Amino acid sequence: MKRDDLPSTPTAGGLGPDAAWSALIDAASAPYRPKSRWAYHWARGKLGRDPVFRGLLERGDIGAGRRIVDIGCGQGLVAALMQACATLQQQGRWPAAWQPAASATAYTGVELMPKDVARAEAALAALPLAPRFVCGDMCSTPFPACDLVVILDVLHYVPHAAQDAVLARVRDALAPTAGRLLLRVGDASDASGFAWSQWVDRLVTWARGHRVPPTFGRPLSEWQATLQRLGFAVRAVPQSQGTPFANVLLIADLSPGVPA
Ligand SMILES: C[S@@+](CC[C@H](N)C(=O)[O-])C[C@H]1O[C@@H](n2cnc3c(N)ncnc32)[C@H](O)[C@@H]1O
Repeated sequence: MKRDDLPSTPTAGGLGPDAAWSALIDAASAPYRPKSRWAYHWARGKLGRDPVFRGLLERGDIGAGRRIVDIGCGQGLVAALMQACATLQQQGRWPAAWQPAASATAYTGVELMPKDVARAEAALAALPLAPRFVCGDMCSTPFPACDLVVILDVLHYVPHAAQDAVLARVRDALAPTAGRLLLRVGDASDASGFAWSQWVDRLVTWARGHRVPPTFGRPLSEWQATLQRLGFAVRAVPQSQGTPFANVLLIADLSPGVPA
């Protein structure tokens, strides 16, 4: 079902999709407010403007009872959203028009920037989900055993060989037959869209007070082939409708018989 087809009025047993998404943004951004106005407004802006988060919930990409590892987690928006989902579900307000509610039994965020980790811990550590944040480089930080790995707009910060090594370690950390990777990347074969994405990425990195690093893109077909070589079955979900960008979400599932 396309998003435009989804009813926006309340459906039996839950809120309408738009009302539910609005309630989720409110609930997911609220924990940041008493700690940092900046982090609160960043959370609202990012959840409200980036279509990836709502899409994950509508389509049921996350699933239920997941042990999640979020690599390059920034200030931990995925953890905040998981807690908000749990609350909406407990209140019986999850939209009937969406797939069953996403839920997490554990969450580990890995993030390079100490300031982001400090913001995440200050706002979210006391939530019932009890998310854990590790300040470290994804190229060397051990990943715990998990069912779902989320990597949104992060891998392009390291060279191709390092990307491959991170993806191999992700595969090894995931449950062999049920593990899933949600990987958002830019498609470098769409030259103008990719250039736009990179330009905005650099601007946001600079605005967040970080050094602007070089980046390392790949065409979509190469991303897909890399994941397939590691034993993942891959689906691509376009993320750029109505925008000038070239972002793609890759939903990569481990099939039985993962190569050693
Ligand atoms: C564009 S932001 C995306 C943040 C988050 N995934 C989201 O979608 O809201 C990229 C994040 O990756 C982090 N990052 C970059 N290189 C990293 C590395 N080598 N190890 C861990 N995190 C890294 C950055 O500090 C930043 O927080």
